[in-house]
Amino acid sequence: MATARFFSLPDSIKQLSDSGALSSVPTHYACRDPDAPSDVDPTLEGQIPTIDLSVLTEGDPARRSQMVRQLGRACEEWGFFVVVNHGVPETVREAMLAAAQGFFDLEEEEKAEHSGKHVMDPIRYGTSFNSKVDDVGYWRDYFKIVVHPAFHSPAKPLGFREALGQYAACTRVVGMELLRGMWESLELDDGYMNNALDLDACFQVCVVNLYPPCPQPELAMGLPPHSDHSLLTLLHQNGVDGLQVKHGSKWVHVKPPPNSFLVNTGDQMEIVTNGRYKSVLHRAVINGRSTRMSIATVVAPSLDTVVEPVAQLVSPERPAMYRGVRYREYLEHQQRNKLWEKSALDHLRVQ
Ligand code: OGA
Ligand code: NI
Repeated sequence: MATARFFSLPDSIKQLSDSGALSSVPTHYACRDPDAPSDVDPTLEGQIPTIDLSVLTEGDPARRSQMVRQLGRACEEWGFFVVVNHGVPETVREAMLAAAQGFFDLEEEEKAEHSGKHVMDPIRYGTSFNSKVDDVGYWRDYFKIVVHPAFHSPAKPLGFREALGQYAACTRVVGMELLRGMWESLELDDGYMNNALDLDACFQVCVVNLYPPCPQPELAMGLPPHSDHSLLTLLHQNGVDGLQVKHGSKWVHVKPPPNSFLVNTGDQMEIVTNGRYKSVLHRAVINGRSTRMSIATVVAPSLDTVVEPVAQLVSPERPAMYRGVRYREYLEHQQRNKLWEKSALDHLRVQ
């Protein structure tokens, strides 16, 4: 349900920022307390796990099973890791960033063709998270495109479709390899999991986030603390940092190594694994100097899958922690409501 709100949001933060007229943020963007003590722990940065995907795909059996265990520990302890040697050509990653920039650089009227859409529409442009219900504004514009099982693309800018098509195909391969390793780390048969989650028809979305420079970055947020609705999410950024993940009671500011993907586990993973691999809280902070762009690729079960804890991970000692729900309904609920921590998943917890 939409709640009454006493402010309006601009068409885009980019337009607001490009106008150069702002020396402070409009009050409805001020959602942080600049005097609060920092909750970021810089000593944790170096402890973020790294997964070498080439070892999973072509390593000898001993190295491979060691990497599978490493992946399992990363999921259990962090829900977040860096992936290197992923096999996605740098040209494909760069072309996607350039295409995304090209989209945001279109005239506002051209982008508006994709705005004001229903949350389940396959191509959607907007600002904040869900401008219909957000009770503060987030310093972010976004462009979401469903790329699988049916591929969608805007017609403009020129070359976008090709860049997106290649990027989507390559990241899907990486996502599937990681999922295979994760099932293996839980001693689950990967064929069984692929069937149970209908991964041949997996739902994949590319979410392009644009965070323009902000006159008061200590007051506003790019995205509030949240978990993703996916099984897992792969993130690639334009060289400007801003992602923070929660580890224990602290936040970690992530500085990805070159040519890497940042990967986090999502709510569907927490449901299927009956809480063994929990979705991780993360947020996006902004800065006063540079435009940050990130491309989050969400990999999820097919929309018609009823996702529930897999039987092998449910026992009398560890009863099912979540009710099963059709992924389509989960997604719609998560996208229709405010984005806040794990509020969508909390609905399904069995008390
Ligand atoms: C997201 C997200 C973080 C970022 O799109 O869900 O968490 O760093 N993005 O842009
Ligand atoms: Ni996210």
